[in-house]
Amino acid sequence: MTTTWITICDTCKREDWDPAVQSVTDGEALAELVEAAAALVRGPVRTRRVSCLMGCTHGCNVAVQAPGKLNYTLGRFDPDPEAAEAIVDYAVKHAESETGQVPYREWPQGVKGHFVTRHPPLPE
Ligand code: FES
Repeated sequence: MTTTWITICDTCKREDWDPAVQSVTDGEALAELVEAAAALVRGPVRTRRVSCLMGCTHGCNVAVQAPGKLNYTLGRFDPDPEAAEAIVDYAVKHAESETGQVPYREWPQGVKGHFVTRHPPLPE
């Protein structure tokens, strides 16, 4: 089974982000939660952070990718534990899928309505 990577944008700020009361960006907050949730799963799912996935107007954003599979960008997440768990649960299913396509009936509730782009795998 190939490793599915969750790439979390750590510079995303939602519209209501306020530097006066928030010491970290929304993206950093979500990254911490996703990393913690991913550490609890058994399976080939790993995480990394990048600064900006160019979806700044609809953060928080993550990408779910694996070589040779359909890859996805998801956005409009709140930085909360429910979102983080749904992202990680979805990534586990992506890792288990041969093509990267996860049947809709298996989507965690928390990722529904958050898909932004789908990228077909590059040709061999
Ligand atoms: S700051 Fe997150 S996508 Fe640009």
